[in-house]
Amino acid sequence: MPHTLVQPRNTVDWIGKWREKQELDKLVVFCDSNTRYLAQPLAESVGALCLEVPAGEENKSIQQAERLWKELRNANAARDSGWINVGGGMVCDLGGFVASNYQRGIPMLHVPTTLLAQVDAALGGKTAVNLGPWKNQVGTFYLPSAVLLDAAMLKGLSAEEVRNGKAEMFKHGLIEDIGVIDYLEKLAPDALPGMGWVRRAADVKMYWAGVDPHEKNYRKILNTGHTVAHALEAWYLDQGQAIAHGQALWAGLMAEGWIAVQAGLVTEDGALEWMLDIPRFVTKRKWPKTSEWLPWMAGDKKNKSGRIGFSLPTYPGNCRTELLFSPQEVGILLRKFDLNTWLN
Ligand SMILES: NC(=O)c1ccc[n+]([C@@H]2O[C@H](COP(=O)([O-])OP(=O)(O)OC[C@H]3O[C@@H](n4cnc5c(N)ncnc54)[C@H](O)[C@@H]3O)[C@@H](O)[C@H]2O)c1
Repeated sequence: MPHTLVQPRNTVDWIGKWREKQELDKLVVFCDSNTRYLAQPLAESVGALCLEVPAGEENKSIQQAERLWKELRNANAARDSGWINVGGGMVCDLGGFVASNYQRGIPMLHVPTTLLAQVDAALGGKTAVNLGPWKNQVGTFYLPSAVLLDAAMLKGLSAEEVRNGKAEMFKHGLIEDIGVIDYLEKLAPDALPGMGWVRRAADVKMYWAGVDPHEKNYRKILNTGHTVAHALEAWYLDQGQAIAHGQALWAGLMAEGWIAVQAGLVTEDGALEWMLDIPRFVTKRKWPKTSEWLPWMAGDKKNKSGRIGFSLPTYPGNCRTELLFSPQEVGILLRKFDLNTWLN
């Protein structure tokens, strides 16, 4: 295990004990404008300074990181200060980046407040900021002391955020634990999953991040659906209208299911078994044409020598990594694919 995943009986008490054990002087709680209602009371209970950024993926930026470093400096924060992220994947990625670099790293906790962050983004120690529209181009590997899974943090989530989180849960089912997909199929799209299932999906991520902490090989399995998802997110960010990661991932899983069929990695029947589950989780919209988002795959971190890197689903419960196609081959594989046909 790369770090501890805990389900504390009482989050405030747990943080108090962590502070004692780590001999921390100051605590800083970090949130965005939408998670302030959870972060502020927590900060007051544990006696922490509360720092905030505006909500939204466009704020996962080096400019916000610099502003936060200056706030830490002004508050006289030092290596014996503890940093606590209270938010979704945006807060955990940006907050992790800030904490990992301030004075070369200060102790950190994640208290994820979205389903997506509880099953994925808060786990595994990747931190990031975007470079303009290019997703997660700058970042570090930096482990929190622990990730605290607290069901109370999910209570105020919107229906769309619940469906977004299920995208990463579904992906974990697809690559490893088909029972998770069976469970999601039986649940209403907007219903929060039970914490036992959140934990089960989180454990898939914990395992692969644990065997390959720096994503040299095995961990790439977790990138299934993400080559297309990140290209779509970049396209949307470039248009000045960020799309939620979970929505981009649903679309990415659909498109990569199609690619897997066209590349002969899975039979059409085998892929349709799970691809047809996806639309009920997706918010209706007019999706861009494939030719519009395809060039944004150029920024994918799995690419090698100009070829586009994929981790593709084979049959439910398995996946192949280290697959490389030239941009032209990807264009050919996707030539008859349109997100509007499959998702709306
Ligand atoms: N580091 C990783 O391994 C990893 C993995 C997957 C995704 N990510 C990153 O995570 C981000 C996506 O995560 P996300 O979907 O959690 O996004 P997010 O943090 O932007 O949260 C989504 C929205 O929900 C709001 N919100 C969060 N918790 C809330 C709560 N409890 N109540 C009300 N509103 C709440 C946020 O303010 C935001 O508006 C992306 O930046 C993605 O790149 C990182």
